Amino acid sequence: MKRVAELLRKAGYVVAFTGAGISKESGIPTFRGKDGLWNKYDPQELATPEALRRDPETVWRWYAWRMEIIQKASPNPAHLALAKFEREGLLKAVITQNVDGLHQRAGSKKVLELHGNIWRAKCIACEYRRRFSRPPNDLPPRCPKCGSILRPDVVFFGEPLPRNVWAEAAMEAMKSDLMLVIGTSGVVMPAAMLPNMAKQRGAVVVEINPDESAISSIADFSIRQKAGEFFRKLLEYLEES
Ligand code: OAD
Ligand code: ZN
Repeated sequence: MKRVAELLRKAGYVVAFTGAGISKESGIPTFRGKDGLWNKYDPQELATPEALRRDPETVWRWYAWRMEIIQKASPNPAHLALAKFEREGLLKAVITQNVDGLHQRAGSKKVLELHGNIWRAKCIACEYRRRFSRPPNDLPPRCPKCGSILRPDVVFFGEPLPRNVWAEAAMEAMKSDLMLVIGTSGVVMPAAMLPNMAKQRGAVVVEINPDESAISSIADFSIRQKAGEFFRKLLEYLEES
């Protein structure tokens, strides 16, 4: 932790790259690993354009269930610490694979959502877009303009990332001199390329993950702790020293 505190103090441009693990202590399940969603559910049936076409109600029921969990969750010390570092001018961006919006609720301003946001929906046929503040009741929700079904504005398997978000994320990764990689298995491409891109430009890569991940082999430091616990202690340490 001392090492990380030192690195943070010396760094000029810190960027965080986060995954489902950062929200685990907020009560939101991850996708892989023990209790992971993809152990219980088949992504091909829930998170692909084909699944939406075949059975939009089932797909929406799954997203509405996740919205319910997310609605009840609150940001944990890891989300809050990143927001604080940004306010202090230290952290320049959070690049996240999460769709839960907890970074924004923690107060982070510059959040690049590579996989979209579960609270947004868009029409599959026209330009209509809307936000939800709670899970919709009638599933699947429909477009008030053209009557087609809406879809969650998230990236499904097999779909490209939103181009502008990806371009900006790549820029931020390459500008960083310290990248904090928090709670990601690092197996979903292209998102998982970002730590490599940072490293190739000379950044120090620090991973915070209780388990080994696909990022571990390139990380300069791997902190084997839960993100919420680690950042709570780190903030205490930074205040004291
Ligand atoms: P995963 O579920 O693949 O990985 C979660 C990671 O978090 C694992 O490496 C865990 O060891 C770690 N973890 C668990 N508890 C933690 C804690 N308390 N603190 C820190 N880390 C912890 O989640 P992602 O890497 O985010 O895609 O998955 C990437 C993408 O795969 C997701 O964005 C989603 C999924 O399919 C889309 O929805 C497009
Ligand atoms: Zn429409």
